[in-house]
Amino acid sequence: MKISKMTSRVLLGAALVGAAATVAGAEETLRSLAEERGRYIGAILNSEWFGGGWGGALEPEFEEIHKAQFNAVVAENEMKFDATEPNQNTFSYDKGDKMVTYAQENKMRVRGHALAWHSQVPAWVDNIRSKSDLLNVLKNHIDNVVTHYKGQVAEWDVVNEAINDDNDHGWRSTGSVWFKNIGAEFLDSAFVWAHAADPDAELCYNDYAIEWGIGEGSKAGFLLKQVDHWIENNIPITCVGTQTHIEISHESTPANVRTLAQELAKRNIVLNITELDIGFPQGSASSLGASDYEKQGHLYRQFMDVFLEEPNMGEFMIWGVTDAHSWLDGSQGKTQGLIYDKQYNKKPAYDSLVASLKAHPASEVKSPYGTVTPADTSASDTAAVDTAAHDTTTTSFIASKGETLGMTLSGRTLSVIGANSAKVEVFNLQGRPVFSEIVTKGSVELSKLTNGMYVVRIMDGSRAMQRRVVIK
Ligand code: G3I
Repeated sequence: MKISKMTSRVLLGAALVGAAATVAGAEETLRSLAEERGRYIGAILNSEWFGGGWGGALEPEFEEIHKAQFNAVVAENEMKFDATEPNQNTFSYDKGDKMVTYAQENKMRVRGHALAWHSQVPAWVDNIRSKSDLLNVLKNHIDNVVTHYKGQVAEWDVVNEAINDDNDHGWRSTGSVWFKNIGAEFLDSAFVWAHAADPDAELCYNDYAIEWGIGEGSKAGFLLKQVDHWIENNIPITCVGTQTHIEISHESTPANVRTLAQELAKRNIVLNITELDIGFPQGSASSLGASDYEKQGHLYRQFMDVFLEEPNMGEFMIWGVTDAHSWLDGSQGKTQGLIYDKQYNKKPAYDSLVASLKAHPASEVKSPYGTVTPADTSASDTAAVDTAAHDTTTTSFIASKGETLGMTLSGRTLSVIGANSAKVEVFNLQGRPVFSEIVTKGSVELSKLTNGMYVVRIMDGSRAMQRRVVIK
């Protein structure tokens, strides 16, 4: 399996770079910037695009933006169990097929969501109590759906949200027809059956709240033990999806995603951000101002920074395009979580993503689809070096290995290393310039900047370097 998996990743990576070459010279978009970096950025297509659902067709802007800005797509509901097998052994692929055709026409990667999930299963499944009957139902479902989309869906959420929310995390039993009647072996079996149906598909475990840290008693800590169990037992898992439906107050989440990515890198597993949105409290929309949306952009930016800096992250999927159509405004107690506003205007979050992509030169961004780091000692060493280089809380930055141009920040004094004279520019996390000066005496005072996180760029002739810094 390993050989075919690696080959497929290399081919996918190559296809991506090839696609980027064809858009050279075209307007710069999230898509073009991600493609240049061998990465995927995507968003859902939702019920209204598929025709039906929440009452009315989507505005034409939705699809125009989707095609222009994204190179990956996932169906919000239409590949789930209740949509694909509404009645036993009667499969319904019309909407999923429509999305796959759209993806192929627009050269997008397709995520399949989701095969085994406790939610959105039809009543006929929920009523089954026999373990062997349910195993047969799950196997038949996975065989049919994965075979139908073989070679077209690049990656499946094989199991979704199977971990419970209790403090002593374990498998979800309440409300899960699968766990209640089969036990934990439903997860192992689901991966094995999905792999048998499409050996080249990437196979993910996907969940929420695994972006909350990996410490004792955490959901992610429990998951990491399960990933070890799956690897030891040759269960064909290749990726984890962290949903990342968060709130504006969750400022530590990007750092938690980085930690999770690094833990999974040691296990040769890819981490993808699969359902990102960053919501404000419900009812707050009318009182939100520019600084709130800048703050939201600030968080989006940090997720993209982590995504680009961790070599085993491949997809950055947003759970929607515009605040006009988002699941957040339903029962979630959140609102305004996406990167376009209700009128399809780009929000600061959009600019932040662009700024992050531009701050990470293509030559420095690795693609997991060709170069997933093997689980050996040198891999852990590399991770340790990277952590230090990207630690935004430290006050001094050393130039990366092999670079002679560098900077240190002590308090608010920024010193340039390795150049007599250099241009120092500082940008906020939306990529807007906030400071620029030619430094001739080796250092400059950044006294007028308000506290926060910034990107500093130093240029000396053709040499340039940039680092994220925290000004306190
Ligand atoms: O299809 C019916 C429609 O006929 C009816 O008129 C309408 C009236 O409410 O309901 C429609 O079904 C809704 C369905 O979305 C399609 O629009 C369901 O009520 C509604 O519960 C369902 O919500 C989806 C939710 O998953 C269900 O769990 C959201 O759209 C979808 O965004 C959300 O997605 C999940 C991911 O799959 C897993 N991670 C969390 C994420 C957010 O909850």
